[in-house]
Amino acid sequence: MKYDIKDLQKAPEGQKLIQWASNEMPVLNLIRLRFSISKPLSGVTLAACLHVTSETANLMITLVSGGAKVVLCASNPLSTNDAVASALVENHKIPVFAIKGEDNQTYYKHLNQAADYKPNLTMDDGCDLVTLIHQKRTELIKDVVGSCEETTTGVIRLKAMAKARELKIPVLAVNDNQTKHLFDNRYGTGQSTIDGIIRATNVLLAGRSFVICGYGWCGRGVANRARGMGSNVVVCEIDPIKALEAKMDGFLVMPLIKAIVNADIVLTTTGNKYVITEKHFMKAKNRVILAQAGHFDIEINKGALKKLSKKVSQVRPFVEEYDLGNKKIYLLAEGRLVNLAAAEGHPASVMDMSFSGQALAAEYLWRNKGKLKPKVYKLPEKLDRSIASMKLKSQGISIDKLSQEQKKYLTSWREGT
Ligand code: NAD
Ligand code: ADE
Repeated sequence: MKYDIKDLQKAPEGQKLIQWASNEMPVLNLIRLRFSISKPLSGVTLAACLHVTSETANLMITLVSGGAKVVLCASNPLSTNDAVASALVENHKIPVFAIKGEDNQTYYKHLNQAADYKPNLTMDDGCDLVTLIHQKRTELIKDVVGSCEETTTGVIRLKAMAKARELKIPVLAVNDNQTKHLFDNRYGTGQSTIDGIIRATNVLLAGRSFVICGYGWCGRGVANRARGMGSNVVVCEIDPIKALEAKMDGFLVMPLIKAIVNADIVLTTTGNKYVITEKHFMKAKNRVILAQAGHFDIEINKGALKKLSKKVSQVRPFVEEYDLGNKKIYLLAEGRLVNLAAAEGHPASVMDMSFSGQALAAEYLWRNKGKLKPKVYKLPEKLDRSIASMKLKSQGISIDKLSQEQKKYLTSWREGT
């Protein structure tokens, strides 16, 4: 078996992390049990390009239980847990191509090595594998039955491909599951981003001006958690509806150029390019901390920051000091997603729902092979809701049911005042 990881000796440590995560993933465990009996993925070769974490490991093991042959590469150069990668190779015989801190060239070499397995299904977090297969490995497209996409930025790219009629395979937008973005993007990013910022810097959040660019699912999650830690949270948006929501949720709202003057911490969660750029660096106060939780490292204009700086030095793990002469600016995790680079990503309990969605999406694509068009689909609502029901059940929570009379009332119009 070919693989490329940092250190096979780390397998025992990685295996403990995988087990620890599994304890918090009851829904995925139920799916794994069903998969191990009915083998719905028999005959599938699945290439996954995901953050290599203990939660992802549990998803890979579930897919293998379902009968799939699986290969895994990283969806970000900084998000791999090397111990987990090692356990997947050593204990689970799953080929992994991922090393934390790999350069861009190695990152793409690893994607190609995963693609070499000639997958029938692919699983992406950010659409890099699908892009590779559509641009440079087009000989593989004929074998690909479909792909599952984990994140907002990936779904945006896929919809752009479909609009341009360049998408050649059916895709399930797992991010658009309600049991994904309402929980993972909001509560997962909310907690793990704060975790990443604190692990990297050990700063006190109480009393600090914490500016958040983007009040989408991720941004509102972080805004609420930062407020809970005592920060004075300021929201910057470009969408008037989201800006109004932020205002009515009790946050200060203003343009970034104004907010940055007093900011202690600025975080971007937009999925957009050059949100913090030269004009903002010029106005920022001394010792401001900049971080990003969006998918790609494009939200903070690192090139412009470097150009303005006289010296750049690493002052702590995941903290670079940019010395502009008249002030210092601190950039966390090279401007890559701070929650996965400087911490461990979302807790397993929330990834339980995201990755149950991935497992069900893979099963759905394989079961419907040949029947779907090359476009971006949503997972059927029934499956999405089944994840929520299983999650509630796992927590011992039961909920009310509609009576026959209520069902009838909700689908009729005759009864009024
Ligand atoms: P979203 O579409 O719900 O929110 C993005 C928000 O950013 C929108 O409200 C949009 O109006 C706003 N925005 C866009 N450009 C802006 C600008 N220049 N200034 C201010 N606001 C701007 O998306 P989301 O689900 O919150 O995801 C955001 C990003 O985070 C994506 O890149 C996504 O892939 C990524 N993501 C990361 C993690 C993680 O673990 N770090 C988890 C989930 C999603
Ligand atoms: N994305 C955010 N957190 C994650 C995690 N813990 N594992 C995999 N992907 C993630």
